[in-house]
Amino acid sequence: MIESSDLRMTRIPLSHGAGQMPALGFGTLIPDAALTITATRDALEAGFRHFDCAERYGNEREVGTALQAGLTGGAIAREHIFITTKLWNSNHRPERVEPAFEASLQRLGLAYLDLYLIHTPFAFQPGDEQDPRDQNGNVIYDRGVNLLDTWKAMESLVDHGKCRAIGLSDISLDELKPIYASARIKPAVVQVESHPYLPETELLKFCKDNGIVFLAFAPLGHGMKPGLLEDPVISAIAARVGKTPAQVLLAWAVQRGTALLTTPRTAARARENFDISPLPQDALDEINRIPIRQRLNSVVSTGVPGFIPKGG
Ligand SMILES: NC(=O)c1ccc[n+]([C@@H]2O[C@H](COP(=O)([O-])OP(=O)(O)OC[C@H]3O[C@@H](n4cnc5c(N)ncnc54)[C@H](OP(=O)(O)O)[C@@H]3O)[C@@H](O)[C@H]2O)c1
Repeated sequence: MIESSDLRMTRIPLSHGAGQMPALGFGTLIPDAALTITATRDALEAGFRHFDCAERYGNEREVGTALQAGLTGGAIAREHIFITTKLWNSNHRPERVEPAFEASLQRLGLAYLDLYLIHTPFAFQPGDEQDPRDQNGNVIYDRGVNLLDTWKAMESLVDHGKCRAIGLSDISLDELKPIYASARIKPAVVQVESHPYLPETELLKFCKDNGIVFLAFAPLGHGMKPGLLEDPVISAIAARVGKTPAQVLLAWAVQRGTALLTTPRTAARARENFDISPLPQDALDEINRIPIRQRLNSVVSTGVPGFIPKGG
């Protein structure tokens, strides 16, 4: 990790010399198209330089519009922004990977991606239907492809030069280990739910030991209430250090060596979530001692997005 006395500037090197990921990332899981554009623009203006997208979010075009506006303004160069998008479950068949990647690239209006992730380890029936269901409403999974086949197609994208790094999302340590062992190009990043109620300590250790960036989503517990933002330990620390509960949670995530994704939807919240500063060691220790354990997003057990944010 490239630490800086200014926590906001922390960058984490990716394996294979594939660049550095700004630890503070902006997530684009925003259902409303107009709000996607304004929130992405506001995040860029607040200082975020890492943007997390997905084919499944249905708004890559809008994210691309906002980013292009920031780039053509001239003040920010493409190489100063780190952009990720994700392969959806219905595109796991190896022959579908490159077309899905190219389609995302085109929607985003980009020439290359910094990172492409397999969104979940679950393969759905291949095709353009993102949520294939049988007559009983059950997801139709695809038993004709395994994760390693999909991974090999991801490796080819790196070979072809349009994608700097590849990784996995919503994956458990038990699922990650065999892919890591077999991969020709090792996963550079793992994106999973993580916060003080779900620290994922073992997975984090594996990632640190093997040079994999651990990228936490839901660092604010998806903003759910009651929840982390109202946790008495977090609130007391926030009052003590003169920061907001959100800023305390985001600082904790960066100081424990992870990157994170947060989704502020207004300019004020974007500035708040970017304006983090280091917590003293006793505060970090107190957070690490919170005994509550809670997973908020069930995507990891089904491949079906387990959390749909409130509409804009
Ligand atoms: N790989 C996956 O399967 C997966 C799953 C989920 C998310 N993600 C990624 O992770 C990103 C982060 O999403 P998240 O829900 O996990 O983010 P989050 O930051 O934990 O939660 C976002 C929620 O927190 C609220 N919030 C944001 N800033 C706040 C602040 N300063 N004070 C109080 N409340 C605040 C927002 O409220 P308002 O709505 O009121 O603004 C929103 O409801 C997503 O956009 C997506 O890119 C990935």
